[in-house]
Amino acid sequence: MTKTIAILPGDGIGPEIIAEAIKVLEILKKSFGLKVQLEQGLIGGAAIDATGHPLPAETLKLAKESDAVLLGSVGGPKWEPLNIAIRPEKGLLGLRSELKLFANLRPALLFPELVNASTLKPEIVEGLDILIVRELTGGIYFGQPRGIRILDNGERQSFNTLVYRESEIERIARVAFESAEKRQKRLCSVDKANVLEATEFWREIVTQVGKDYPNVQLSHMYVDNAAMQLVRAPKQFDVMVTTNMFGDILSDLASQLTGSIGMLPSASLDANNKGMYEPIHGSAPDIAGQNIANPLATILSLAMLLRYSLNQLELATTIENAVSQVLRDGLRTPDIQEEGQKAVTTQEMGDAVVTALQQA
Ligand code: IPM
Ligand code: MG
Repeated sequence: MTKTIAILPGDGIGPEIIAEAIKVLEILKKSFGLKVQLEQGLIGGAAIDATGHPLPAETLKLAKESDAVLLGSVGGPKWEPLNIAIRPEKGLLGLRSELKLFANLRPALLFPELVNASTLKPEIVEGLDILIVRELTGGIYFGQPRGIRILDNGERQSFNTLVYRESEIERIARVAFESAEKRQKRLCSVDKANVLEATEFWREIVTQVGKDYPNVQLSHMYVDNAAMQLVRAPKQFDVMVTTNMFGDILSDLASQLTGSIGMLPSASLDANNKGMYEPIHGSAPDIAGQNIANPLATILSLAMLLRYSLNQLELATTIENAVSQVLRDGLRTPDIQEEGQKAVTTQEMGDAVVTALQQA
């Protein structure tokens, strides 16, 4: 049966990196018998420019009706002066929320070829394979009330709210425990339970859910310590589970362990494994339009899409192997370039993955 993938390129480098993922999809259709139909939609700043809204109703409908969504990135300086309620980021957050994509899987995997691209010593990162499970539709990102109010003395005060319902913590904890069961069976839950009641509660619920997963070794860590441990001795971690905001921060940090944020894919899943797939990096306006962005995080996101939402496990592995192959062949975009290596363009990197796939 033909599946539909909604393609939302977005802003900045989004369209360039998505173009390379589309090349990969086309070759999968042509040579590997994949039956998919691609439908393009507007999101973020591109959608604001065209329709005045970062998440047009049409895009939301397309995303809801599709089997999976592949997204580039949103945002950029052009839209920063806009009110926060209608900025490009709201398009992305709206999609996550409307599609109920509460489970964000962010693997930080070091390809052996990139061991020297990391700013950390090779022995610290060699063999690194961490999965960050980030809660994606709750916490301070969505908590109400939020905004700016005027105090009695006329001074302005800004506020956001960190809230978690028990069921929200429980369902993300289950995703994390189940992921850990398929890996090294170690789960570290990250919170700030020494200061924030909402995350003390988080710790309580995760511990309670853990009783259903006796095979998984559960530990807890404060987020400040977790940040330090991630750069000190990252290989101590297998799966990490944490709140929306802590997950945002720690996943950027973890990406640097693997050499570049340009390498990290992500999957955002609902309760039925329907999902949206996107690189964890942003729209990188500073390098947009220059054909130098690394398309591999997006291509690896496509591999996750095939694995989780289309159940095409073999094709997912085939893409990941093709990425390994081009890295072994020495192809490097500037973000993962080492001394003495020649940098390739975004398009050359995408073409190389396609060639590796054709030879697979
Ligand atoms: C991410 C991004 C987003 C987030 C932004 C673009 C809204 O940083 O996916 O990590 O904060 O979740
Ligand atoms: Mg982020």
